[in-house]
Amino acid sequence: MQPSIIRILFYSLFIPFLVLEFCKAADRITSGESIRDGETLISKGKIFELGFFSPGGSKSTSRYLGIWYKKFPKIVVWIANREIPVTGSNGVLTISTDGNLVILNCMTNRVVWSSNSSATVQSSRAQILDSGNLVLRENSNTSFGSHIWQSFDFPSDTLLPGMKLGWNLTSDQNRYLTSWKDTSDPSPGDFTCRIDNLGLPQFVLRQGSEKKFRTGPWIGLRYSGTYSLRSPVLKFSFVSNSDELYQMFEFSSDSVLTRVTLKQPGVIQHSVLSEGNPDWTIMYTSPNNLCDNYGWCGANGICRINNNPICGCLEGFIPKSQRQWDVLDWSSGCARKMPLDCQKGEGFEKLKNVKLPDLLEFRLNEGMDLNQCEAECLKNCSCTAFANSDIRGGGTGCLNWFGDLIDIREFSEEGSELDIYIRMPASELEGEKTDTIDGIHINCFRNACSQLFDLAYEADEEKEDRRSSWEGRNITSDVKVICCSNSLCTPMTCIDNKFAFYVLH
Ligand SMILES: *[C@@H]1O[C@H](CO)[C@@H](O)[C@H](O)[C@H]1NC(C)=O
Ligand SMILES: *[C@@H]1O[C@H](CO)[C@@H](O)[C@H](O)[C@H]1NC(C)=O
Ligand SMILES: *[C@@H]1O[C@H](CO)[C@@H](O)[C@H](O)[C@H]1NC(C)=O
Ligand SMILES: *[C@@H]1O[C@H](CO)[C@@H](O)[C@H](O)[C@H]1NC(C)=O
Ligand SMILES: *[C@@H]1O[C@H](CO)[C@@H](O)[C@H](O)[C@H]1NC(C)=O
Repeated sequence: MQPSIIRILFYSLFIPFLVLEFCKAADRITSGESIRDGETLISKGKIFELGFFSPGGSKSTSRYLGIWYKKFPKIVVWIANREIPVTGSNGVLTISTDGNLVILNCMTNRVVWSSNSSATVQSSRAQILDSGNLVLRENSNTSFGSHIWQSFDFPSDTLLPGMKLGWNLTSDQNRYLTSWKDTSDPSPGDFTCRIDNLGLPQFVLRQGSEKKFRTGPWIGLRYSGTYSLRSPVLKFSFVSNSDELYQMFEFSSDSVLTRVTLKQPGVIQHSVLSEGNPDWTIMYTSPNNLCDNYGWCGANGICRINNNPICGCLEGFIPKSQRQWDVLDWSSGCARKMPLDCQKGEGFEKLKNVKLPDLLEFRLNEGMDLNQCEAECLKNCSCTAFANSDIRGGGTGCLNWFGDLIDIREFSEEGSELDIYIRMPASELEGEKTDTIDGIHINCFRNACSQLFDLAYEADEEKEDRRSSWEGRNITSDVKVICCSNSLCTPMTCIDNKFAFYVLH
């Protein structure tokens, strides 16, 4: 008697747990099976979990089917029914008769969400993988391998290792990230991150249709405006062929969890959790400084994060509104000092180590070299700049820009093999050369009034006292002073430090 009582006790105590454990350990459902709200699927290595949840752990009755880290249930990496929550705990995930994965509301018996695959199969199975991918495959022992649907093709706000961000060019499907509306509402918010494919791909963060940040075009080995993170375990790949165009990152270390998330308000965050660490750390965020903000210095401006102020005009340009620039509002940008007249003698000013301007009006010709590219640009009066389109092989391909140049930034780090050439009128190229004053050569200064005195001092060594005699005094009649606002020279008196000077005797 004793042993059987113990056995009964044993079973009655432990069988429910065993059954529960069995349910919990399942990583898949097949046709005819389902999970209801409260039940979950767990990937083999217990990394990801799939089930119904309420966002932000709120007590809201809106329930969504999502995938989260088993260890971090609050970090949801994917959601099926983002736009249509199930009210109350009536949600059921199952496989419909056509083999699609569906969420049903078992109160109303209506389909809330469907994987909508057009492939019709007799029977299928859905499995949550340790990569975080929910994969739907035909359930037969003859067709392994290819999936009929996978969650990786329909990203929410999170990119996981191995997930492709970009285009299936055959189906014209673009996979991109969309932020949540807010922390309690996972429906698509304002912000998107996608790869624009306009000849040369670039990665763009938008709010609605407005660009907020871009990486610059892909120039063969990297985006022109980013430096690749050097890490022995992080592998970034970019694939461009006739079928596909995407970027992807992978981690070669299994003990590391990592994800890229598009957060409110429009911040891309790459976080990592290494083994033994209780908390995620942020590897980087983008945009991460003012120069990353799209078009921060306005049209034809250039952003240099180590300069003060950070915005300047491209060579040959002056602020459109000096008044606005004086109060550090650069949005109005810069205009040409001397308009291009498309006459002979026009040339280019080389600018090194920059994020290439946005591809608004441009032409790409992959077959041209740099000389042909320059000639091509000179042929068209509205061409304003040119550059190689690919840094490989010492620079190949040709990009011509037309009209205003937007969102250029200069990097202080060396290592960019790519230069851009900005078109200049002949007079500007000559003016560049130097002006002769009192036997010394000077460039037109952009700097403060003190430069004037240094200049005068140098120019006039015999009269050393001259410098001090100018300070704080009105300009006397024996010197003519021409003030230059960013080298546009007009005769005026010295007012403040905003101007530079040419001194003529
Ligand atoms: C599936 O198709 C239906 C009907 O075309 C559509 O209303 C629904 O939004 C689609 N669901 C998804 C997840 O794309
Ligand atoms: C393959 O399917 C057949 C028929 O459904 C079944 O009898 C067999 O056991 C299956 N084989 C494997 C390896 O699952
Ligand atoms: C691209 O889409 C087509 C059509 O949906 C599909 O057959 C193909 O497998 C997809 N290619 C890749 C690489 O996912
Ligand atoms: C110059 O380029 C612009 C922009 O691509 C184009 O619209 C225009 O027709 C070109 N002009 C000439 C003369 O080729
Ligand atoms: C400079 O000129 C102004 C106006 O002509 C005059 O009011 C002022 O006293 C002068 N300052 C000096 C230091 O001479």
